[in-house]
Amino acid sequence: MADHSYDYDVLIIGAGPGGYVAAIRAAQLGLKTACAESRETLGGTCLNVGCIPSKAMLHASEYFDAAANGTMAEMGIEVTPKLNMEKLHGQRLDAVNGLTKGIEFLFKKNKVDWKKGHARFVDAHTVDVGGETVTAREIVIATGSSVTPLPGVEVDNAKGVVVDSTGALELEKVPGHMVVIGGGVIGLELGSVWRRLGAKVTCVEYLDQILPGMDADVRKESQRIFKKQGIEFKLSTKVTGVSVKGKTATLTLEAAAGGDAETMEADCVLVSIGRKPNTDGLGLENIGLETNARGQIEIDHEFRTAVAGVRAIGDCVPGPMLAHKAEDEGIAVAEWIAGETGIVNHDVIPSVVYTLPEIAGVGLTEEQAIAKMGGDKAKVKAFKFPMAANSRAKTNHEPDGFVKVIAEAESDRVLGVWAIASVAGTMIAEAALAMEFGATSEDIAYTCHAHPTHAEALKEAAMGVQGKPIHM
Ligand code: FAD
Ligand code: NAI
Repeated sequence: MADHSYDYDVLIIGAGPGGYVAAIRAAQLGLKTACAESRETLGGTCLNVGCIPSKAMLHASEYFDAAANGTMAEMGIEVTPKLNMEKLHGQRLDAVNGLTKGIEFLFKKNKVDWKKGHARFVDAHTVDVGGETVTAREIVIATGSSVTPLPGVEVDNAKGVVVDSTGALELEKVPGHMVVIGGGVIGLELGSVWRRLGAKVTCVEYLDQILPGMDADVRKESQRIFKKQGIEFKLSTKVTGVSVKGKTATLTLEAAAGGDAETMEADCVLVSIGRKPNTDGLGLENIGLETNARGQIEIDHEFRTAVAGVRAIGDCVPGPMLAHKAEDEGIAVAEWIAGETGIVNHDVIPSVVYTLPEIAGVGLTEEQAIAKMGGDKAKVKAFKFPMAANSRAKTNHEPDGFVKVIAEAESDRVLGVWAIASVAGTMIAEAALAMEFGATSEDIAYTCHAHPTHAEALKEAAMGVQGKPIHM
C-alpha cells in the first residue's frame, strides 16, 4: 500500500546489482518504487565496467591462449590465432549493452521508475536527483564502490598508460609490458587477460603472498600456477611513484619494509589495490549519517543505518565487495521494507577468481577454522584432493589445482571449501548449498556425483576428510 504523504514507498540510490535487484524485488512486493542512477545505463559497476566486461575479456582471451600456448595442439587441433582487437572489444560491448538494456526492460516490466541523475540527501525522506525532488518513506543507499587511488600514481584511462580496471578493459592494443599493482582479484583477472593476449605481465604486491583473505594453500598454489603461466611476481614490494613520458611509464619500487629504490619500465600500469565505498557527494551530512573508519556505512541485520528510514546495502556497507552479496542484500532489504523477513547468511558467501583455473572458496579458511577452535588444530579436519586425480580434469588437460574440504572434527560439519579447478566457480555452488543446509563432510561424501565431472573432486575431498578417498 502506497503511503500518500511520500512520492514513493521506497527510493533506491544506485542501480548496481544491489540497487536494481532491491528495486525489482520491492516492486514485486507491491511497493511504489523508484531507483536513482547517475550513470547513463543501469547495472552499476558490475554490468558496465566490472563482472560482465571482465568475463567477456577473460572468456575470449582463454580461447586465444588455448590456441597460442599449445593446449589445443595437444588435443590435435593446430591453429595459429590472429587477434582482431575491434571484434574482441565489440563482443565485450555487446554483452554489456545487452545486459544493461535487459535491466531497463525489467524496470519497465515491474514498474520501477528510473530517476536519472546524481542523488543527494536533503533530509532522511527527501533526495534531490539531478534537480528533481523525490520523497520516499524508506530510502536505500546502494551507491557501490570505486577504485582506491594510490598516492603518487595518477590514473588516465584515456591515455591508456596508467589505468584502473575500467581502462584495462579497454586497451586498444596489447601492451608489451604490463605492470599490475596489487595481486588481488582484479590484478590477477585482468593481468591474465593481457598475458594471454601476449603481454609480459609483472605483478607487484605489497604483502608476501597474493590473494589476501583466501586459504593459505590456495594462495600458495595459485601463485605457483600463475607463475607457470608466465606472470612474474614482485612480492613484499611497494610502488612509491609512477612517472609517464609519452607512452612509457617508469615505476619506482621499494621493499615493503623499506630499503633502496629500484625502477621498472612498463607500457601499461594497472592500479588495482582495492575499492572504496561511494559516499562522497551523497549529502550524508544533511541526515547526520557518518561512515566508519573504512568509509563504509554501518548497518544492522535489517540493513538499517543509524538514521531512521535510511537503509544501505552492497559495496558501500561492510563485507565482501561482491555482486552476488549485493544482490542477495537487495532482495532481503526489499523484503524487510515490505514487512517480511529478509535473510542473508553472510557466513556462506562464495568468492571466485575467474582465471584459468578458477579459484573459489566459501566459508572459513583452514587458518580461520583453527582460530575459531581456539587455535586447537586437532579440532579441525581438512583434506585436499588434487585435480590431477580427477578423471575429467585429467582428460581435459586441466591437471592443476585441488579441492579442499575443511570440517569441524567433532561434529564433522563443513566449515569451508576451497577449490582451484577449471570450473571451480560453478563447483563452489554445491559447497555453498551443502553449508547452507549444515552438511557434514559425510553428507557430501555419500552424495552420488555424476561421472566423469570435476565435481567428483569435491566428493573425493569430503571422502578424504572421512579418511577414505578412492582415487588417491
Ligand atoms: P555498484 O555496482 O558499484 O553500483 C552502484 C551504482 O550507484 C553505480 O552505478 C553508481 O553510478 C551509482 N551511484 C553512486 N552514487 C550515486 C548517487 N549519489 N546518485 C545516483 N547514483 C549513484 N563481483 C563479483 O561478484 N563477481 C565478479 O566477477 C566481479 N568482477 C568485477 C570486476 C571488476 C573489474 C570490478 C571493478 C568489480 C568486479 N566485481 C565482481 C565487484 C562487483 O562489481 C561489485 O561488488 C558490485 O557491482 C557491487 O554492487 P553495488 O550494487 O553495491 O554497487
Ligand atoms: P583486492 O582487495 O582484491 O586486492 C588488492 C591487492 O592489492 C591486495 O593483494 C593488497 O595487498 C594489494 N595492495 C594494496 N596496496 C598496495 C600497494 N600500495 N602496493 C602493492 N599492492 C598493494 O582489490 P582489487 O583487486 O582492486 O579488487 C577490488 C574488489 O573488487 C575486490 O575486493 C573484489 O571483491 C571485487 N572484485 C571481484 C571479482 C570477482 O569476484 N571475481 C573480480 C574483480 C573485482
